[in-house]
This record gives sequence, C-alpha cells and structure tokens, in this order.
Amino acid sequence: MNLAAADEARQPSPTDVPVPAVDAAPHEQDVPWRHRHLLDVDVLSADDLELVMRTADAMREVLDRPIPRVPALRGSNVTILFYEASTRTRVSFEVAAKNLSADVVNIAAATSSVAKGESLVDTIRTVEALGARMLVMRHSVSGAPYLAAEVFGGSVLNGGDGWHAHPTQALLDLYTMQRQLPGGTVAGRKVVILGDVLHSRVARSNIWSLTAAGADLWLCGPSTLLRGFDAWAVHGAAAGRRFQVTSSIEEALRDADVVMALRIQRERMASGLLPSLREYAARFGLTRERLALAREDAIVLHPGPMNEGVEIAPDVAVSAQSRITDQVTNGVAIRMALLYLLAGVRDGG
Ligand code: CP
Repeated sequence: MNLAAADEARQPSPTDVPVPAVDAAPHEQDVPWRHRHLLDVDVLSADDLELVMRTADAMREVLDRPIPRVPALRGSNVTILFYEASTRTRVSFEVAAKNLSADVVNIAAATSSVAKGESLVDTIRTVEALGARMLVMRHSVSGAPYLAAEVFGGSVLNGGDGWHAHPTQALLDLYTMQRQLPGGTVAGRKVVILGDVLHSRVARSNIWSLTAAGADLWLCGPSTLLRGFDAWAVHGAAAGRRFQVTSSIEEALRDADVVMALRIQRERMASGLLPSLREYAARFGLTRERLALAREDAIVLHPGPMNEGVEIAPDVAVSAQSRITDQVTNGVAIRMALLYLLAGVRDGG
C-alpha cells in the first residue's frame, strides 16, 4: 500500500475536472489520467477519483441511449482472465468492453491450460501473443495482478486478488453512494462496513477510497474478523482520515448514512473465527430492527454475492433502502470509464 499517495489523495476534490467526450477515441482526449494499470485505489488522487466519477457519468448517459454503444475501443482486444468464480465483475467487464466496441476474449482458468499446470506468467505472455491489449484479471492470490503488470505489455485491471484489493468494486461503491446521498458527496457522511472485514478485498479497497473522499468510515464485526484493522485505523486517524473500528453494532449503526453488509466468506474462513453462522446472524446480521438505528434515509449496500439470512435479512436486501441492484448497474458505467481512461494511457494519450 502506498501511504504517501493515499494521504495526498485526501486533498479537497476539484469540481472542474475535464471530462472526456467518450464517443471519441481515448487517445484523442486531453484528460489528466496517468495510470497505465488499475491494481488498487490507494494510488488514486482526489483528481483521479473525480475524473473516474465524472467519466462514469458520461458512460451512464451512453447506457441510457437506445443503443448503448460507442466506438471508442474499436479494434482493441480486452481479455478477461478469471482464476476465481465471479458473476458481477466478470459479466459487467464484458458488457462494459462490448459497449465500448472492444473485441472481448473470456478465459476461465479452470477450462484453460492453467489446469495442465501452465504458470501465470506463461498464461499472460500467451494471451498477449494472441492479441490482448487490456487484461482484466481475478486471482485467489493477493498480488497476482501486480506480477501480471510486470510482464504484460498493455494495461492490467485488477478484478479482485485474494484478500487484498477490489478496486473497481470500491469505485462503483463510491459512485453509488455519491449518486444516492444528498449533496452528491460522501464527505462527512457516516459509512458503515459490517461483517467479514478480515477476508474482504472489498473492504480494504473501500477503506482507501472512502476515507480519501472524506467519509466518516466505521468498520464493524466480531473482533476475530476485524483483526489488524485497529492499527490501520490509528494510522489513518493520525493522517487525518476518519476511520473507526468497533464490535458494537449499535454504536456503528447509530445515525449511519450508508450501511454496507459484507458476505461471510466461508471459503476463506479458518476454523475458530466464528462459533456458527446462526450465532453470527443473531449478533451481527443486518435486520430491519438494527437498520432502524441508522438514519431514516440511510441506504443499504452489499457488494454481492449475498448470503441472505446470514449477513443480511432477505427483507432488508429488497427494501426501499436497498441500492444493491444500483451497484450492479453502476458497475458497468464505472468499468466502461476505467477501460476508457486506461486505454488513453496505453495509446500514448
Ligand atoms: N462483488 C463481486 O466481486 O461479485 P462477483 O464475485 O460476482 O464478481
């Protein structure tokens, strides 16, 4: 994690970021975007975050057209290489790339030569030789996209690596909050991330982007699933970020503006961290009664996939306060924006 860049990212957000005309090719645009890869959000400045948000607005406008497609990435190959299961991230990247007129190649590691023992580096070199210019990648090992970025000649976009980072999810979460909150900003708003923080790459990326955007961030869950985050919060507070960690669900939810429930990641859970899922649901599940502690107009998010009845009650997931399906739709606009911005750098813009 790059603490210096992250602290620089807390500078006040400008309002006059030049937004690209997204019907045109990225390299024809004069936008101040300098990142060839998107590996995490910790290196994004306030200007970068604002540019992603405003470019996503332009992509939302494209999505509202009768034919939601622009020629911006015509002739470009976007390869989607996933070593872990996914619905939202994989499909929304595919839709986003197609909406930008890119050629899309999908590779599921389980049915590729990875199953015969091919290394990650060999796979990356092979897809590049086959024409990949942008590589969207998910991997169960933290840091794998960083290795890919060292050997790949184009742009790497991290679609989630181990417990470490999920940058496009954090950016779509920020975008969804900004669109829903009065005033269009998370600055000063109480945002609660509730649940299995320990195993969550979504939480780790959201910590960077939400505190950079000025949110009053609270992490809440059983102490076994918050291990290590106290130290991060102390460091963040010392650097002027608003970041608290608690196992008191009442304290966390009281007067919250946003509540994001996280999935209990059973596939990553070591024994002894939770007595049982039933006990977790009883003590930390987001129910109507608990949500009533938050502001009346608080919104509910979940990155998905959900374990309904465990971290979130089914009626809360579909309530009027839920913005979970908006998150999915906004994910397409955010991923279109990121593919567009990174393509401009790759093209020499
Ligand atoms: N939020 C998220 O990453 O969902 P998927 O695993 O379905 O992509």
